[in-house]
Amino acid sequence: MFAARRALTGAVQARAFSASARDLSKVTVLGAAGGIGQPLSLLLKLNPRVSDLARTRKTFYTPNTNILTSNSKSMISAEVQVSSLPALVGSYILILDKLGVAADISHINTKSKVTGYDPTPTGLASALKGAEIVLIPAGVPRKPGMTRDDLFNTNASIVRDLAKAAAESAPDANILVISNPVNSTVPIVAEIFKKAGVYNPKRLFGVTTLDVVRASRFVSEIKGTDPVDEKIVVVGGHSGVTIVPLFSQSSHPDLVGNPELLQRVQFGGDEVVKAKDGAGSATLSMAMAGARFAESLLKAAQGEKGVVEPTFVDSPLYKDQGVEFFASKVELGPNGVEKIHDVGKIDATEQKLLDACLADLKKNIVKGVAFVAENP
Ligand code: NAD
Ligand code: LMR
Repeated sequence: MFAARRALTGAVQARAFSASARDLSKVTVLGAAGGIGQPLSLLLKLNPRVSDLARTRKTFYTPNTNILTSNSKSMISAEVQVSSLPALVGSYILILDKLGVAADISHINTKSKVTGYDPTPTGLASALKGAEIVLIPAGVPRKPGMTRDDLFNTNASIVRDLAKAAAESAPDANILVISNPVNSTVPIVAEIFKKAGVYNPKRLFGVTTLDVVRASRFVSEIKGTDPVDEKIVVVGGHSGVTIVPLFSQSSHPDLVGNPELLQRVQFGGDEVVKAKDGAGSATLSMAMAGARFAESLLKAAQGEKGVVEPTFVDSPLYKDQGVEFFASKVELGPNGVEKIHDVGKIDATEQKLLDACLADLKKNIVKGVAFVAENP
């Protein structure tokens, strides 16, 4: 009888697992026609774990929930950046993505289905409904001379409004925030989810994978090794001194205190912003990093064990110092965050970097929380 019950339980669990594995593969990209969004969507379309790719094709943002549509050809044919429309900022910000990206990607002969959605609240809700993973690269990128924090004024409200839609239509999804400044936009999403009564700290991630990707590549350049073998832990946050690589834990502890390498890892984003000379920031490497993180979450959701990615999460590690979110190695599982690793043993030089990181991070996080309190 017990054997029969065990067999029955096993069957039910197997069904539950396969059903959830199937259901868990819908991925939604908000801001999908942007510099990151397009190659990210392409990489997701090539990923056999993704069965259904929902993309907001054409999007716009209205701070006062005032929805604007226009058939004016010039609006539809141009990608209009917030910064190019200063006169409109404050009354509304209109952002139209290039049309046809979803149709284009949908012709790729992999199994997943791609759907583009119109920029209406209903379209956004449909794009989000049933999503297991929501990637958010929506927002403006830096220009030379700007810090990521300079993006706060524009991107905070974009992320807030998308978070509201996600809290409503995809409260159980894993939310992957790419939009900068990540150190503040992640707390913004958390506050919105808390207000909606659906906050699950295990399902909110700031994507810091690009810092890890860069560290691995830059080390391999110095050491003449294969970057695949260079697993560099990067902790903290995602901007300047909040990015703390821990070379003491790598196979090259001699790199601790290498000023050029540290500069490249902490300010790699600036290298790209400078090279693009006003045309934006990292998009292709970021798309790779975002796709890698989404793939790791899907692997973990589909039952793979031991999937670890550094990511910026609601973390207990430095809460006693008033730092609510922190990036460290996180083991992923079917419920999102499975285990948050502490930073481990670090060098005295790295401890100084960590202290500087925590001081900045605290301010960035407080800024995000205050924004939602003041602009609900
Ligand atoms: P982009 O301007 O090329 O694309 C942004 C897209 O977002 C555009 O298509 C725009 O129409 C869309 N958008 C704006 N408001 C929206 C809204 N309310 N709803 C839906 N879509 C909206 O910019 P990008 O180069 O793709 O960068 C996007 C963001 O990612 C920037 O904030 C950038 O700083 C950040 N970024 C983060 C990392 C990271 O490591 N986390 C790396 C690179 C870039
Ligand atoms: C990056 O690290 O490349 C991104 O955060 C974009 C930027 O503004 O640097």
